[in-house]
Amino acid sequence: MIYSRISGTGSYLPDRVVTNDDLAKIVDTNDEWIVSRTGIRERHYAADDQDASDLALIASQRAIAAAGVNATDVDLIIVATSTPDMIFPSTACILQDKLGIKHSVAFDVQAVCAGFVFGLATADKFIRSGASKCALVVGTEVFSRIMNWQDRGTCVLFGDGAGAVILKASDSPGILSTHLHTDGSYRNALCTPGTVENGKVRGSPMLRMEGSAVYKFAVKAFEEVAWEALNVNMMKPGQIDWFICHQANKRIITHAARKLDLPDDKVVMTVDRHGNTSAASIPLALDVTVREGKIKTGDTVLLAALGGGFAWGATMLRW
Ligand code: UT7
Repeated sequence: MIYSRISGTGSYLPDRVVTNDDLAKIVDTNDEWIVSRTGIRERHYAADDQDASDLALIASQRAIAAAGVNATDVDLIIVATSTPDMIFPSTACILQDKLGIKHSVAFDVQAVCAGFVFGLATADKFIRSGASKCALVVGTEVFSRIMNWQDRGTCVLFGDGAGAVILKASDSPGILSTHLHTDGSYRNALCTPGTVENGKVRGSPMLRMEGSAVYKFAVKAFEEVAWEALNVNMMKPGQIDWFICHQANKRIITHAARKLDLPDDKVVMTVDRHGNTSAASIPLALDVTVREGKIKTGDTVLLAALGGGFAWGATMLRW
């Protein structure tokens, strides 16, 4: 039996740190509101000359180094992003070129904030089927480019960054199970509806969100998908060592953790420092926790994410 196993993680945050007080100078908001409603204290914004593939490149190089492999060992590259460098080619193909890899297959997945979990599930299936032996899965975003600076309800929430993992074929798991869901009837609740037509932007190219509708759906979805993953693996919440939930809002993460009876010290929280980095949020939070030396061999980790679509999912894995 072939399984897949994460053998290295990496991440990258752009240098520019933007605090809540910085944002209060350009929109009608304040640190107290942002911290109390979301837990966010600061986020990073990419420089003008940094695109999603540039952030992804550094995160990928760090994951490749941590896994002790060469870039040329990578035979599959999956990039999750909603802020691609261009309409086409895929950000994955651009990353492949920047990494100097010729022979692998590379493509993007689009599941917004759930994109990394969708990409990881896809790579897991490639490895289990024998189609890949060493996969690079990346979440990378420059959401600062699609903010509507007139909408204080959304522009304070998001940040830029990238996270990556190397997933290798292994005799033992690794990834125990993956669970993916979508419901397109909610597609207007969280979207960036603009597109390009005859050289002009048609529709709004700025992110739009019905915050409270997303909030309500997210708390229910996280609880349900966590139980789905637990039940499939015949596990109880007490067997989870680390819960890494999509870092959108501290209140949503805390609510989900409470429903699973998880103590705070098992719940990874990076939203205060990173904001919501969409597809990058889970691999960023994972890499931070790994590099802090917290996740130990044999630990059980539950990843759960939700994003526009709605698209949501979970991954149960053994470290
Ligand atoms: O990544 C994909 C998944 N995304 C999420 O999971 C996000 C889910 N949604 C949320 O996290 C929350 O709904 C928000 C953080 C977006 C909003 O929090 P909320 O507690 O639902 O606030 P609200 O939208 O109901 O707004 C409450 C009040 C309003 O004022 P009034 O109408 O009560 O006078 C807003 O105008 O807060 C006001 N407000 C702000 N005030 C200061 C909204 N944004 C701000 C702001 N600063 N930035």
